[in-house]
Formats: sequence, structure tokens, C-alpha cells
Amino acid sequence: MLQLIYISTATPAMREPELTRILSASRRNNARDGISGLLFFNGRRFLQALEGPAAVVETAIARIKADDRHAAVVTLSRREVDTREFGDWAMASLGAGEAAGQAAIDRVDALTIDASPSVRAQFTSFARLQSA
Ligand SMILES: Cc1cc2nc3c(=O)[nH]c(=O)nc-3n(C[C@H](O)[C@H](O)[C@H](O)COP(=O)(O)O)c2cc1C
Repeated sequence: MLQLIYISTATPAMREPELTRILSASRRNNARDGISGLLFFNGRRFLQALEGPAAVVETAIARIKADDRHAAVVTLSRREVDTREFGDWAMASLGAGEAAGQAAIDRVDALTIDASPSVRAQFTSFARLQSA
């Protein structure tokens, strides 16, 4: 199974209601494609993990990269995993300008409980960053 992690930056096209749209498209498509992972949005940047059969993950990432609601997509990690580190697909986000409170950090901690230490550290340190 392929696991990809990338970071990207929201563009002006990324307004608040877009988050709900991304969430519903992702829930639908990722469930259909057997993709699990986590999308974290801090109001400015996205950190996303996607994992599943290589071909479907490649198709999904190509579609996501072409989305004009974010830009400067940088792959942080790309590796083969034997078992899923994210049981399901989930999203966690902070409101615009909101600093990551303990609740957001706890949620990311819970969602990365089965992830390898380096993947988990990427998400928890990102969750601790202030968005503003
Ligand atoms: C940061 C970000 C993350 C996204 N993550 C996913 C995802 O995990 N799965 C997905 O299907 N679409 C994701 N999207 C949305 C896709 O770019 C695209 O809009 C969507 O897949 C189109 O789905 P539809 O053709 O079913 O409407 C993401 C978009 C952004 C900006």
C-alpha cells in the first residue's frame, strides 16, 4: 500500500464554505476508492496523509494537486506501508486565525494513534503551529 504525505498552502479561492465541500467530496470518493488518511487545515496550510492501493492514491493525488483551492503542494513523505496507519479518512481543522488549542491537538493525537512515530510527529507539530 502506498502512503503519501504532503503540505500545501490555501489560495484566495479557499474560503470557509470550501472546507465543507472538500470534506464531503473526500468522504465520498475516498470511501469508494478505499483510501484512508487525514487532512488537517490550520486556516492557512493543509497537511494531508493519503494511503491505499498505489494506483488509486496516485489518481487521487493528481486530482487533488490540480485543485486551485491550494497551491505549492510539496510531498513530505512517500512510502510503502504494510498495514494502514489511518483506519479511516478524517479531517480536522481550525477556524481562520484560530490558534491550535488543546482540543485540536488532542483530536490529532487521537487520529494518529496508529501512525508511525515520524508521521504522528508531523501531524502533532503541525497542529501546534499557530495559523496566524
Ligand atoms: C487540500 C485538499 C485536499 C483534498 N483532499 C481530497 C481527498 O482526500 N479526496 C478527494 O476525493 N478529494 C479531495 N480534495 C478535492 C479534490 O481536489 C476534488 O475537488 C474532488 O475530488 C472532486 O470530487 P468530485 O469529482 O467527486 O466532485 C481535496 C482538495 C483540497 C484542496
